Amino acid sequence: MTRHFLNLSDAGGHAMAAMINDAIDRKAARAGWPKGKPDADAPLAGRVLATIFEKNSTRTRVSFDMAMRQLGGSAMIMEAGSMQLGRGESIADTARVLSRMVDAIMIRTDDHAKIEELAAHASVPVINGLTDLSHPCQIMADLLTVIEHGKALPGLELAWLGDGNNVLNSIVEAAGLMKFNVRIGVPEGYDCDGGFVAAALAAGANVRVIRDPAEAVRGADVVVTDTWISMGQAHGEAKLAAMAPYQVNSALMAEAKPDALFLHCLPAHRGEEVSDMVIDSAQSVVWDEAENRIHAQKSVLLWAFGQL
Ligand code: CP
Ligand code: NVA
Repeated sequence: MTRHFLNLSDAGGHAMAAMINDAIDRKAARAGWPKGKPDADAPLAGRVLATIFEKNSTRTRVSFDMAMRQLGGSAMIMEAGSMQLGRGESIADTARVLSRMVDAIMIRTDDHAKIEELAAHASVPVINGLTDLSHPCQIMADLLTVIEHGKALPGLELAWLGDGNNVLNSIVEAAGLMKFNVRIGVPEGYDCDGGFVAAALAAGANVRVIRDPAEAVRGADVVVTDTWISMGQAHGEAKLAAMAPYQVNSALMAEAKPDALFLHCLPAHRGEEVSDMVIDSAQSVVWDEAENRIHAQKSVLLWAFGQL
């Protein structure tokens, strides 16, 4: 069976824990090395990953390329607009052709149905580099970062403030799989995907919508936010007004535990969803989180290739 990583549930909690442990070990083993030097075992030597972008990216683009280099393989980066995909070649045919040419495919796209279509017709692993529905690779890096900073996942209280978007959907999915709790501080009308919430609740995670932002973060171990306007969404004054009380600033951060961590997948819109004071504070681990995209994705790739 080809292993696709379209959502976290494709791997499940057990494999996610194994990936995080592998990422911790691999990261430690290459500390201080030049960033492009392959790991000692070069487990993906000879393997090539095709990465396709239908939306902008800095971290996903660079981290998948670096992840493949560090695993001993290589990556090619393609903008969908410069591929035949951009002028009407079907996703299914693109999947069939790329499966003959490369060993795995990572895609960043809009409609999640597109990545499902790609995976359905690919005979090599397909990895989700963000869709409008979810961003599972980001959450693997986030969980690695939280654990690295000394917080255990079972029972962890994670507070989200802002828009109910793709990143939150994958956090909620992770909560069910890794047994932590999420306080969803999202204004009315901007809720996250109900399917992910139902699955997390069914798995025993305590996932609650808390409209009051101060109450949502009170006593939290981790506070997370993201842009109020995701890629492909229209800018709306009404949305910005609804989001304003959910800005993660020093006053709201003070409601969380004194040692609470602040996470943001980046890019940040300083002065909107987060203040400079918070993102530049000692509690902010956003630069570790960004670096961890490489380390977490190396383990996702190894899992997809059946080597973990
Ligand atoms: N966090 C994240 O996915 O960043 P990019 O959009 O830069 O890839
Ligand atoms: N929610 C954001 C994440 C960017 C990495 C977006 O989809 O634009």
